[in-house]
Amino acid sequence: MEFGNGNGYINGNSYSNGNGYSNGNSYTNSNGNGYNNGNGYNNGNGSGYTNGNGIDNGNGNVNGNGKVNGAKVIKMKPMDSELLREQGHIMVDFIADYYKNLQDSPQDFPVLSQVQPGYLRDMLPDSAPDQPESLKELLDDVSKKIMPGITHWQSPSYFAYYASSTSVAGFLGEMLNAGLSVVGFTWLTSPAATELEIIVLDWLAKLLQLPEQFLSTGNGGGVIQGTGCEAVLVVVLAARDRILKKVGKTLLPRLVVYASDQTHSSFRKACLIGGIHEENIRLLKTDSSTNYGMPPESLEEAISHDLDKGFIPFFICATVGTTSSAAVDPLVPLGKIAKKYGIWMHVDAAYAGNACICPEYRKFIDGIENADSFNMNAHKWLFANQTCSPLWVKDRYSLIDALKTNPEYLEFKVSKKDAVVNYKDWQISLSRRFRSLKLWMVLRLYGSENLRNFIRDHVNLAKHFEDYVAQDPHFEVVTTRYFSLVCFRLVPVDGDEDKCNERNRELLAAVNSTGKIFISHTALSGKFILRFAVGAPLTEEKHVTEAWQIIQKHSSKFTRNGHY
Ligand SMILES: Cc1ncc(COP(=O)(O)O)c(C=O)c1O
Repeated sequence: MEFGNGNGYINGNSYSNGNGYSNGNSYTNSNGNGYNNGNGYNNGNGSGYTNGNGIDNGNGNVNGNGKVNGAKVIKMKPMDSELLREQGHIMVDFIADYYKNLQDSPQDFPVLSQVQPGYLRDMLPDSAPDQPESLKELLDDVSKKIMPGITHWQSPSYFAYYASSTSVAGFLGEMLNAGLSVVGFTWLTSPAATELEIIVLDWLAKLLQLPEQFLSTGNGGGVIQGTGCEAVLVVVLAARDRILKKVGKTLLPRLVVYASDQTHSSFRKACLIGGIHEENIRLLKTDSSTNYGMPPESLEEAISHDLDKGFIPFFICATVGTTSSAAVDPLVPLGKIAKKYGIWMHVDAAYAGNACICPEYRKFIDGIENADSFNMNAHKWLFANQTCSPLWVKDRYSLIDALKTNPEYLEFKVSKKDAVVNYKDWQISLSRRFRSLKLWMVLRLYGSENLRNFIRDHVNLAKHFEDYVAQDPHFEVVTTRYFSLVCFRLVPVDGDEDKCNERNRELLAAVNSTGKIFISHTALSGKFILRFAVGAPLTEEKHVTEAWQIIQKHSSKFTRNGHY
């Protein structure tokens, strides 16, 4: 796919000065010297980026040689449009070079950082500087001191946890967000921030074919939470208050919740924060017979048992694409049970929900019509840079009832009307970022068909890896793969599972210590399993092939000498 280059909107002819912005004639050439040629920024010849006609010349706080001007420090201007223009370009170049180098010089970027705990303390001073330092000095430190401690989630050879999905559009959206820096906690504090979020989440809901009730045109609607953890917390609080309103607050200790033993740990945390008693959190057992999806019979049985004992079932957390193995809970039967007992069902589709914009994966959320809320992380697999976690609810008033606050200083005439959304009442914190900007930009600058194809590419790459594993008798694919995660391991010898776990653990450590790839692990039914998750935007087939070769090479120690 080619949306980041060619004659795309990103490069080709420069948008700023007719000449490409990194080709000699720089956009910052107040003195005719581009920052990328001869006289680069801060290059010790007096042509520092704050010289010439720059804004901080002469007595500038950062001078030509990048040193601080002793006592003559001028008053800081935290925001200056010309300095932003100059330094912003430098920073964009730095980041673009990073992405280029990740591909061209992978040997300089161990995917899994190889530093030891505390490595940075010895490299940085004990206290913050009194005087300003130069951007050049700072970026040098990033290269020399910070980069070694970076695990490169954006490396094309990153295959560990679900990805931190980035794109040029998402990056630009983040820039614009940082630039505007509005705080849209109420409609009034930036009407566009609220209204764009409503519209973009309706767009995305339509791409996912969510039922109409989740759209803003009815009683439902979407809100962008920071993370999946925040999303599940707010819906647990909404569901808790809804049931307590019905049964009375004193019955809080009788409330019970359900999920599978594969559910993300954030669910337990959300329940505990919400005052649900730990012993009332039912994590239903799963195994390979359902490919680690929640068995609906176990759920119904647990609910009947709890009802018999006088408990009050009020919340089910179903997952589409579990963290461990991308297992899918069957929403159709689970949703029927939720409906039958009047229980709030939340669907956590943090990772796999993104794939459901493709018609061929939409079936995994069939049954969503009986859910009350649905969440996915667009920063995991929809190229919307961290963080961006859209949450939809069918009944926005339950969310608002649980979370609204009305201090006088936030009251204004229009807020009293139902005509406006005040997103402060849909989340925990008051302040909020203008996250919908980047989602809007991703959707507009790529178009949904490109996004679908990108997801399909990743799934195909995972399939490619799965084929390699399946063809090697020393390995096995452990679970049925639905998306872009392959769970696999070295097979046990003579049925010795303990030894097998040990070997897989050793293999994981060996391949990750090469710095060439990064894969992760999990445990399923007591087995130590290796995870290979495709999702980094730069990954191509050659990276997958190379990863497999590295894994095979390091497994040879266990597979020769007659073991097999
Ligand atoms: C299925 C699932 N749910 C929830 C989360 C938590 O998401 P976040 O890190 O955005 O809080 C994850 C993270 O990987 C996940 O895989």
